[in-house]
Amino acid sequence: MYTGLLHLHHWLPFVYLLLMLVVLVQNFLVWKSDNPFSDKLARQNKIAVLLTHLQITIGLIMLFGFNLDMFSDMGTLMGDAGLRFKYVEHPTTMILAAVLITIGNAKSKRAEVASAKAKSVVVWFGIGLFLIALRMPWAEFLQGA
Ligand code: HEM
Ligand code: HEM
Repeated sequence: MYTGLLHLHHWLPFVYLLLMLVVLVQNFLVWKSDNPFSDKLARQNKIAVLLTHLQITIGLIMLFGFNLDMFSDMGTLMGDAGLRFKYVEHPTTMILAAVLITIGNAKSKRAEVASAKAKSVVVWFGIGLFLIALRMPWAEFLQGA
């Protein structure tokens, strides 16, 4: 079970990070032009939020369903840079990023003008993606699960 979740949590980001980059560029182009904010773009933004939430949900299940004993000795957990990264810094930063991405999409849905809709996604998704990049376990990700 855990191995399956870990594989999902490992492979989904390849699709997810690519989609986030594509969505950022597309919204940027609408923001900086007179192009309309199409239904297709709104749908793509929504799928980006969906994949964010899916990735977070899998992570939450991995952390609290299978690794809860990590938190029984907070001294060791916080004192070991590797453990702290994996079980504290990575999860908290990713949850913060997901909150920002979700807010960005909600603000975009509420905005009236095309450029404002797109700008909201660029700014909030952009900050979110930056945070993800900061606390992503790049070595494990790029090595293969
Ligand atoms: C930890 C569990 C989750 C929480 C707390 C959560 C919370 C939220 C919140 C607050 C929103 C914002 C709604 C809005 O834009 O006004 C949202 C949107 C969304 N969530 Fe989640 N979610 C969770 C898990 C999931 C999962 C597992 C999926 C699907 C795989 C999912 C798919 C979506 C989608 C597609 C939207 C965008 C809706 C839209 O743009 O209209 N979420 N979620
Ligand atoms: C956008 C959000 C996230 C991304 C892109 C992401 C990505 C990753 C990647 C690539 C790995 C390395 C997997 C491997 O060893 O091959 C990983 C590990 C891990 N992630 Fe996430 N993650 C996210 C959110 C979360 C969240 C919210 C949690 C917990 C609440 C979490 C918990 C974990 C844990 C516990 C591991 C270590 C698994 C292990 O080695 O047994 N992740 N994550």
